[in-house]
Amino acid sequence: MNLTELNELLRTIERQAEAAVRDAGTADGLRAAESRLVKGPLADVLKSIKAFAPDQRGAAGQAINTAKNAVKDRFQAALGALRDADVAGERKKTAGFDPTLPPPLSRCGSLHPVTIVQREVERLFTGLGFAVVGGPEMETDYYNFEALNIPEMHPARDTQDTFWLTNGWLLRTHTSPCQVRAMKKWGPPLRVIAPGRCFRYEAVDASHDNTFFQVEGLLIDKHISIAHLIAFMKLLLREVFHREVKVRLRPGYFPFVEPGFEMDMSCEICDGAGCATCRKSGWIEILPCGMVHPNVLRHGNIDPGEYTGFAFGLGLTRLAMMKFGIADIRTLNGGDIRGLVNPETLSGPALA
Ligand code: PHE
Repeated sequence: MNLTELNELLRTIERQAEAAVRDAGTADGLRAAESRLVKGPLADVLKSIKAFAPDQRGAAGQAINTAKNAVKDRFQAALGALRDADVAGERKKTAGFDPTLPPPLSRCGSLHPVTIVQREVERLFTGLGFAVVGGPEMETDYYNFEALNIPEMHPARDTQDTFWLTNGWLLRTHTSPCQVRAMKKWGPPLRVIAPGRCFRYEAVDASHDNTFFQVEGLLIDKHISIAHLIAFMKLLLREVFHREVKVRLRPGYFPFVEPGFEMDMSCEICDGAGCATCRKSGWIEILPCGMVHPNVLRHGNIDPGEYTGFAFGLGLTRLAMMKFGIADIRTLNGGDIRGLVNPETLSGPALA
């Protein structure tokens, strides 16, 4: 072989490389074709260098190296172009996505409206020297009725539709059982509130549910009068609504208070005009209260000759409805979170 023939052969190999690049569609195909050419024809041609006259070997080696580099460069360029095309394709797929932007904000969770109001009431009363206490949801007849001056066969039991349990106990119909529990446990003087869940066997409608929340309040000391009671009740409503609320006080009957009252507030849903929530009356019963009956004090081992006190049973569920303008009580235990999200706590634009 002379140098002319060698150059001819090298051009042929370069053309083969060109064709291989055109045919191989993938990076793997390109690498395989390159390896075939380098290990096949190019390796063979390198071996043939021995056949050249010694003074021509340098030129022959140079020609082979140049051709080998040209082939390798050609494959590298094709691989690079393929990579660029891949990246461009990926970019096209994710066009419009900017990874540096903050994620869209979702709706934040919030406390349940009843919890919000409960915490407000707790904050107010702890500031007034009251302790927050609890009692069992499963109660005895004694604490739910008997100790509250409602003996067996007393007609007042009919007003508290009761879920009786098979063991003779019951689901507490109000938070008032906490009154005598607290008296027995701590004795006078006493300032406690007892928030919690209560149950009644009731037909469910816009303003009644079988499960609802109350907060019981009890203050016992020397020389406590109705004036104290009214002052505390007005303060309570003013603090929760952050303004003076229109109220009315009328006589109410509860065997465990004497005298007993119903403090009603003007319906916040219809502004007193009358709606389903207030049963067309314009008023909402929200705060039954009264002076603790001497018999109840006696059940709590407190001498009614020495101590007097007042008690109230605030309807926490109703209060939450009034405060947040929730027209239907079923929203609160219903599990539909649209009824529970408090718009005030939304921290950003909502997801659709
Ligand atoms: N426990 C009563 C009820 O649920 C409310 C009440 C509490 C009344 C305290 C007077 C004093 O119906």
